[in-house]
Amino acid sequence: MRIEPFGVEQWMNTWETRCDLNLAETCVASLTLAELLQIAGKTQSMQADLGELRMTYGAITGSHALRHAVAALFKGQTAENVLITHGTIGANHMVYQTLVERGDHVVAVTPTYQQHTAIPRSIGAEVTEVPLREAVEWQLNLDTMRAAMRPDTRLIALTNPNNPTGALLDRAQLEELAQIARDSDAWVLCDEVYRGTEQGETMPSIADLHDKGISTGSTSKAFSLAGLRLGWIVGPRGLLQQAEIHRDYTTISVGMVDDYFATMALENADTILGRSQEIVRRNLGILVDWVAGEPRARMVRPKAGTTALVALDTDLPSYDLCERILERTGVMFTPGAVMGMEGYVRIGYACETEVLRAGLARVSDWLSRG
Ligand SMILES: Cc1ncc(COP(=O)(O)O)c(C=O)c1O
Repeated sequence: MRIEPFGVEQWMNTWETRCDLNLAETCVASLTLAELLQIAGKTQSMQADLGELRMTYGAITGSHALRHAVAALFKGQTAENVLITHGTIGANHMVYQTLVERGDHVVAVTPTYQQHTAIPRSIGAEVTEVPLREAVEWQLNLDTMRAAMRPDTRLIALTNPNNPTGALLDRAQLEELAQIARDSDAWVLCDEVYRGTEQGETMPSIADLHDKGISTGSTSKAFSLAGLRLGWIVGPRGLLQQAEIHRDYTTISVGMVDDYFATMALENADTILGRSQEIVRRNLGILVDWVAGEPRARMVRPKAGTTALVALDTDLPSYDLCERILERTGVMFTPGAVMGMEGYVRIGYACETEVLRAGLARVSDWLSRG
């Protein structure tokens, strides 16, 4: 199967371990295991728990406790509606393998995580992109979405909250989107890996709004535990049964140790998400102030998520600009070019606050000299 190179992941692989200050990271500042144990009150009992784990494949589709804890993040879901995967990346891949075939029509909101355009195209589906535009603050135009739909549209794909723009669809917009999908009897795959980063009430999930709604997510971003490589698909039982057929060929099960720590994290979701929202709120304030005080920067304020698209007024294409910034300052942004958004850089602002402050200060210093 031929597939185009994954622009963002290649950029990350090249630079992530060679930069000084990583403002390309999209996870909320990662937790140490010691911090997780502290939050969960498991400092004393973890060693005994793990010591008793017999290292079999474990529960094949994910432990009941874990699937139950995932379901509790939703309004109308049970453990039966949850399938455990290798990260959101594994979840998305499995959904496309399950639902999309050569010749199908897929509508994808862009910019997005490249999986949502590249995988269906690699399968041989036709992908119509519905672009978000800065002029309307990256808000999805539902009329454009409606116009992109066809009677044979198999699936709508979107990332909500959106990576990279930080746009967020609210309940009314999601309900309208669900209705648009229903009119073509289409599935909606909503990559909700950034769900939980929004301030105030958690946004509704497509899985709770549409009978053909599928939510994918993980412990990586809002839960600050990317090292677990633990994700999920939440959707109708019939879909999950189909997905399990594919999963048997790629996954068998996830690691029992990952399952154990992920369950611990999700059972303490309120505390962990509270920490994440505090970091996001504080850091977004810093980023907004920086853009306001930086004459060569422009940005639409993100509504949720951990990333912002920032336009920097220079003559360089975004890839060269990001390489130049890395060379001169050690600060890592992500070039818009690797996600089809030339003219912008993506800044991940949910890192440790001091990293964000120091990185932005270094870039300002460099811009003022250029
Ligand atoms: C929108 C989106 N989906 C999926 C992923 C993959 O995340 P995970 O670590 O859960 O596999 C990312 C990672 O950046 C992402 O931004």
